[in-house]
Amino acid sequence: MRMYDLIMKKRNGGTLTKEEIEYMVSGFTSGQIPDYQMSAMMMAIYFVGMDREETLYLTMAMAHSGDMLDLSKIDGIKVDKHSTGGVGDKTSLTLTPMVAACGIKVAKMSGRGLGHTGGTIDKLESFEGFSTEISEEQFTANVNKIGIAIMGQTADLAPADKKLYGLRDVTATVDNMSLIASSIMSKKLASGADAIVLDVKTGSGAFMKEEADAFDLAKEMVELGKNAGRKAVAVISDMDQPLGYAVGNALEVKEAIETLKGNGPDDFLELCLTLGSYMVELGGMAKDEKEARKMLEQTIADGSALNKLAEFIEAQGGSKEAVFNTDLLPQAGFIDKIPAPRAGYVEKIACDEIGICSLMLGGGRETKESEIDLAVGLVLEKKVGDYVEEGETLAFLHGNDKQKMEAAGERFIKAYSFTDAPVEKGPFIKGIIR
Ligand code: URA
Repeated sequence: MRMYDLIMKKRNGGTLTKEEIEYMVSGFTSGQIPDYQMSAMMMAIYFVGMDREETLYLTMAMAHSGDMLDLSKIDGIKVDKHSTGGVGDKTSLTLTPMVAACGIKVAKMSGRGLGHTGGTIDKLESFEGFSTEISEEQFTANVNKIGIAIMGQTADLAPADKKLYGLRDVTATVDNMSLIASSIMSKKLASGADAIVLDVKTGSGAFMKEEADAFDLAKEMVELGKNAGRKAVAVISDMDQPLGYAVGNALEVKEAIETLKGNGPDDFLELCLTLGSYMVELGGMAKDEKEARKMLEQTIADGSALNKLAEFIEAQGGSKEAVFNTDLLPQAGFIDKIPAPRAGYVEKIACDEIGICSLMLGGGRETKESEIDLAVGLVLEKKVGDYVEEGETLAFLHGNDKQKMEAAGERFIKAYSFTDAPVEKGPFIKGIIR
């Protein structure tokens, strides 16, 4: 087999066979197929597309390109959750202890921030001493003992995707449905869970800006999960404005903890209850979502989810005191108010711009090597549909560098648009794919 022939076949509209896709993935992972040939193939796939079978073969080949985690030493059904990425998306911090408090085994792989979106690992590192660099043995032991463990993606897990993602990132071939679906699902399959709940975001802060594309991606991923013998459900949720009010690592941790104490924003709580009810149902702990939702609400009411978070943080080396006293989390040196430039209803928020403001304050990475400032970010006071008087506070900027705060503040104002008439909001949960 020759890579040249495969590129030409795809370029001319052909369908790649299982053997051809396996050859291409293993050759690329080992370094025998150079980046330039794989780049040409990615561009051919970008234009010609892949059918369901090709996407499945690509997913399976990438999942098997490195270690497949063996979770068989964990009793019961292991459940994982994945978000396609958003702004203010602190869901895993609140959702996983809620679900674990219902008796579900949560064995989760998480990542760091990417572009304007944040990552769970960075957020968790707001707890002093916390680490996701734990061995497979400790991971398994923690899930068995306390019902929850979160691990970073190791170099050995789906290395083909790791390499390919880097290449797609610089060759304008990221936003292709089959490539995104196979990238996400290869990692989820390699990390071993029996059931996967997917949170597919849509809107200005998401990867899939159009709702129809988000539905297609959700269907594709659920199908891939099923074909690989896993249970999978996707929830399509709104990312046309930040989730909740807080954006920025430690600020989001604080909001996640407040939610576990019963003081959470409506949209964020709704997302946790929706995703959680599918996790509890797929995990076999409830007969339907209604029963699961009640169980989840109870974990907030009786404090068991908050205690579970503390147990989890401590088990991975973190200081659990901050769970009960959020003043111990990293705090910014300055907090500035951003006043509304005019009176009116908030019509729209360019959500990706809010993510960039947090990045500009130092809350995300500009380059792979950047150190992030866990304390900085934004706390919104007004969201879509809210009325605001001129000069009233739109948001608080938390920063450690006045120059950066000024630049982020200017950009923030431009992300908001206002109108004189009341604004109709669409549903927050857009749909479910089972
Ligand atoms: N997240 C991934 O892991 N892969 C993609 O291709 C897009 C988002």
